Amino acid sequence: MTGFSEDWLALREPADSAARSRELAGLLARQLADRPRDAPLEVVDLGCGSGANLRWLAPRLPGPQHWHLLDDDPALLAAARRRLARWAGKVVEASVTTGRLALETAGGTRLVADPRRVDLARDLAAVAIPEQALVTASALVDLVSRRWLEALVARCAAARASLLLALTYDGRVAWSPALPDDSTVHRLHDRHQGTDKGFGPALGPTAVAVAAALLRDAGYTVHTATSDWRLGADDAPLARALADGWCRAASDLEPGRRDALRAWSDDRARLAGTADAALIVGHLDLLAELA
Ligand SMILES: C[S@@+](CC[C@H](N)C(=O)[O-])C[C@H]1O[C@@H](n2cnc3c(N)ncnc32)[C@H](O)[C@@H]1O
Repeated sequence: MTGFSEDWLALREPADSAARSRELAGLLARQLADRPRDAPLEVVDLGCGSGANLRWLAPRLPGPQHWHLLDDDPALLAAARRRLARWAGKVVEASVTTGRLALETAGGTRLVADPRRVDLARDLAAVAIPEQALVTASALVDLVSRRWLEALVARCAAARASLLLALTYDGRVAWSPALPDDSTVHRLHDRHQGTDKGFGPALGPTAVAVAAALLRDAGYTVHTATSDWRLGADDAPLARALADGWCRAASDLEPGRRDALRAWSDDRARLAGTADAALIVGHLDLLAELA
């Protein structure tokens, strides 16, 4: 388990929702519009956390959908179930045995959400990818290794599945006002991004470029769009949490700089609520489809 808390995912969800590419979601929705509606669209959500990807994407896609919500953290899967039941316009059925929820959104979309605990790093081969499914993940792909991504792409191509990989960190960071240690923290944070998060050496900021190349080699047409966080004074709690997290990651790599890094984080926390505070964190969304 990698230790993403429900609180952290709730804190980032509004910034994620604002950042995600409407263009790519619209393109995907148009591609799906012609599919027969007699069976639901099968959606495999890798590293679903508390269900943010479903909440953002499902209302934007046409027709009934069956979401397979996969994560290795049982607390997050329980949170997903609880939050989705609250979010939906109507809970049609809730199985206490399997965790399955049948839902209807406020807009009338019919959904089934099936939460399942799975260690994707170890057991990707055991994850069912239905024929012509949509395979999706948000804020996951920078954690994985090249080898894992190769296996995922091979599985998706074999099933002729489409992919929507959202909110992958791409290495662009701009704090305002600037502080002298911003570049040190940025450099160490990006180095930390490359450490093993359970999937082998993580791709970090190179993940979308690697995914795009692998997908093109497998015959996919690939579209990318920026999905940057653009935080201002109203986003102070998220900016402070980021500064704290990056300070810890940087200190793990260079413990000798701990005091200077903590001073940077304290300065960032103080500046976060001020009128001209701004932070851009670069992300990319990627949509891939087979002709
Ligand atoms: C940054 S969070 C993103 C969560 C969610 N997709 C969202 O956008 O809010 C990464 C997610 O990947 C999950 N995860 C990390 N390693 C995993 C693994 N080996 N198997 C399954 N899930 C994993 C975490 O539990 C967490 O929910």
